[in-house]
Amino acid sequence: MSKRFSRITGTGSYLPPRRVTNADLAAELATRGIETSDEWIVERTGIRARHFAAPDVPASELAVPAARAALQAAGLQPSDIDLIIVATSTPDMVFPSTAAIVQHKLGMAGCPVFDVQAVCSGFVYALTVADALIANGTARRALVIGAEVFSRILDWSDRTTCVLFGDGAGAVVLEASDTPGILATDLHADGKYVDILCVPGHVSGGQVLGDPVLKMDGQAVFKLAVGVLDKAARAVLAKAGKQESDIDWLIPHQANLRIMMGTAKKLHLPVDKVIVTVQDHGNTSAASIPLALDHGVRSGKIQPGQTLLLEGVGGGFTWGAVLLNL
Ligand code: ACO
Repeated sequence: MSKRFSRITGTGSYLPPRRVTNADLAAELATRGIETSDEWIVERTGIRARHFAAPDVPASELAVPAARAALQAAGLQPSDIDLIIVATSTPDMVFPSTAAIVQHKLGMAGCPVFDVQAVCSGFVYALTVADALIANGTARRALVIGAEVFSRILDWSDRTTCVLFGDGAGAVVLEASDTPGILATDLHADGKYVDILCVPGHVSGGQVLGDPVLKMDGQAVFKLAVGVLDKAARAVLAKAGKQESDIDWLIPHQANLRIMMGTAKKLHLPVDKVIVTVQDHGNTSAASIPLALDHGVRSGKIQPGQTLLLEGVGGGFTWGAVLLNL
């Protein structure tokens, strides 16, 4: 029997309408006695604006239009899909999964659905799992979605973190194929770094115990990120028998322009081979890679047949990469 591969056949994304520039955010934070500036945020991160969902809009509400756009791009209906994976750290509920809520909102029933929790690496984790489930015959057509409302878990009195994140969703349709598609994947985690990036609160006895807002040691994250992203990139290239020069586009997790440029430099990739959306989206965690991918596809930069390197890094500490032909 010939080997079964998976291939992305459609991409989609959705941003909530409220766009908040650095100047808007600085003015809002000033009313709370927190000082920041457009200059500081742009210089340290590359971020110029982010989108925030309205307080009553959960992650699934962002995921559904992103999924619909990906389905339309693939020429499919929701009923054609037989697997949904949502990567999120800001789920609608403690349980059930956001994927179950998305399934129902898309008017579907019956197929397996679940969430993946790997923070900013969530999308590369979810894509890897979907690829494996397609390769082993469990699914033929998967919706893989990253959706986040990080604005809900930010500490608005901590200027070192609250200026970095945004809300949004991105999605792909991944279909079974006789040819790859996904060429290689590589996932990792090291739980000894839990404390450098976490939301330590939890629900117990009907109350939230502990601190339910994001805590980050930015410099520790920065140092780890560049090193592990380079290792993951080299691992997928080696597994696929490819060279750095075979990469048409690097689509990294959009956390910080300096991390992205550091990664590209180590791979000897010119900056114009990197899809960068962090300036408009901020860090949307698990949504950032599919948002950037969709932006690259719809802007006409990314063309069918090109080789893409997707790279994620985030809380856990988790990291990973996916090398694919579009
Ligand atoms: N506005 C103005 N000043 C600020 C702000 C702000 N928003 N935040 C911090 N500062 C000040 C600090 O108080 C400090 O002042 P001091 O020198 O008087 O003490 C100064 O700026 C420098 O602070 P640092 O924390 O040393 O700044 P750094 O250059 O490390 O940049 C940053 C911070 C942007 C968080 C950086 O460490 C970083 O990008 N880390 C990577 C982490 C990341 O991107 N995380 C995203 C989530 S994780 C992920 O997605 C993988």
